[in-house]
Amino acid sequence: MNRRHFLQSMGTALATTAATASLPSWARQADAVNSHYRRAPELFKTNPKLTCLRGFQGQDISCDAAWIEGKLPADLRGDFYRNGPGLFERGGQRYHHWFDGDGLVHAWRFGDNGVSHQARFVRTKKFVAEQQAGEFLVPAFGTAIEPKIPLRTSDTMNTANTNVIRMDGRLLALWEGGSAHAMDAQTLTTQGAVTWAPELAGMPFSAHPKMEADGSLWNFGTMMGKLILYQFSPQGKLLKHHIMNAPRSAMVHDFAISQKHMIFLFAPIHLNMDAVRSGKSMVQAMEWQAKESVKIMIVEKADFSRFRLLEIPALMVFHFGNAWEENNVIHVDFVKSDNLDNFNDWMPKIMRGEDVISEPSTPAFLKIDLNRNKVSLTERSENLEFPRVDPRVVGQRNRYLYYPVAVEKNTNNTLNGVMRLDQESGKTDSFNFGSDCRLEEHVVVSKAGSTKEGEAWLVGVGFDIPRQTSFASVFDAQNLAAGPVALAHLPYWLPHCFHGNFYSKA
Ligand SMILES: [Fe+2]
Repeated sequence: MNRRHFLQSMGTALATTAATASLPSWARQADAVNSHYRRAPELFKTNPKLTCLRGFQGQDISCDAAWIEGKLPADLRGDFYRNGPGLFERGGQRYHHWFDGDGLVHAWRFGDNGVSHQARFVRTKKFVAEQQAGEFLVPAFGTAIEPKIPLRTSDTMNTANTNVIRMDGRLLALWEGGSAHAMDAQTLTTQGAVTWAPELAGMPFSAHPKMEADGSLWNFGTMMGKLILYQFSPQGKLLKHHIMNAPRSAMVHDFAISQKHMIFLFAPIHLNMDAVRSGKSMVQAMEWQAKESVKIMIVEKADFSRFRLLEIPALMVFHFGNAWEENNVIHVDFVKSDNLDNFNDWMPKIMRGEDVISEPSTPAFLKIDLNRNKVSLTERSENLEFPRVDPRVVGQRNRYLYYPVAVEKNTNNTLNGVMRLDQESGKTDSFNFGSDCRLEEHVVVSKAGSTKEGEAWLVGVGFDIPRQTSFASVFDAQNLAAGPVALAHLPYWLPHCFHGNFYSKA
């Protein structure tokens, strides 16, 4: 499998989408669906909890000095970058899915004089063209839109909206279906799509690369039944890559690394191409196959061509916390859902402004015995998402996991608190913001001079519903129950983000 064959398979998918647009039924069905979403602005007025899903109109925003409640730790200095979908409407048309919005990259800068905030939309080719046109020009992942420009590669639809990392001095805004976009780490000016090597132009580069403590970086991309694997040096040099057939043509959002392996879970999702041809989006065309298994793919980091496949009963996964191995047993944790309901049913409803209850997603743990090729699954009951670990233990044995969590299960399963799970004792430490806040992913930032896992600050973002403003929160990761040591309040609200990373000042 080479790049030409890989891109040919991507081209087939794009051609299908484009052909869809010419079918007479397309416009009728899309119009019927879109009418629901045109009502969304009215519904949002009565649902202040969902304000952040209204999105921005394409404007950049900044604040020189957030209002600090509490006291910022003296050793917490650096840049906290986040990324998420920030624009959902153009020309009276609204996206049907949270994942569709254009990437808005944020920089929260923690300095001696407090916290500033800056956010800029990634100037992808899509964003620039649609900003000029005043309307959506290309199909989105969860919204069937008639293409008004040629769909040459998947980067034509690249929203760069999922994660942001710093690599070799520049920021990379990531989206799983296409190229990373480089940005200036200080100004957030977009520099353009990144090509790792001439033969890799336009190849998918997932939004969940894994960086080990020494700076080594591992990543993957999937598209239409193909899987590409990447290894980078701590200096950001591409060391090797490999393209192979995936065990299933399913959406794969994240993966985990252990000391010696890359671990993938291919959930039982069938993409109904007939549904796409009849005018449905890719999200709407995804069908859950409850009787099929999850394919676990375990690839050797030392030789990407060497892998094994195992199976477990159907479950859905978006995010992994970490993986590690001892005595030829791999331990993997992730967040589990029973099926795709949150993805293709609940999410479109909240994008219409409906305040509906999501299905819970819960911690799950796999033990993969490589000697016997046996897999065991254990689960916990907390309702949470967006797991993170101390960056010093990525791919190594870890004790702690950190999540935003729905502390009160009667609040529409809203993530309204933070939690640390001690895997060794099974004990949790958590803080509940109450029903007035929605919490996003929180990341682990090592305390200055510390050498031990968990001696850290936990830093994230939240939305204050009564104030209708966003804030950054800082906890002592060793005592979440004590509450945040500091909150940095902005005078405005922000669209919710997916993921980000904190880079301490050296
Ligand atoms: Fe993600």
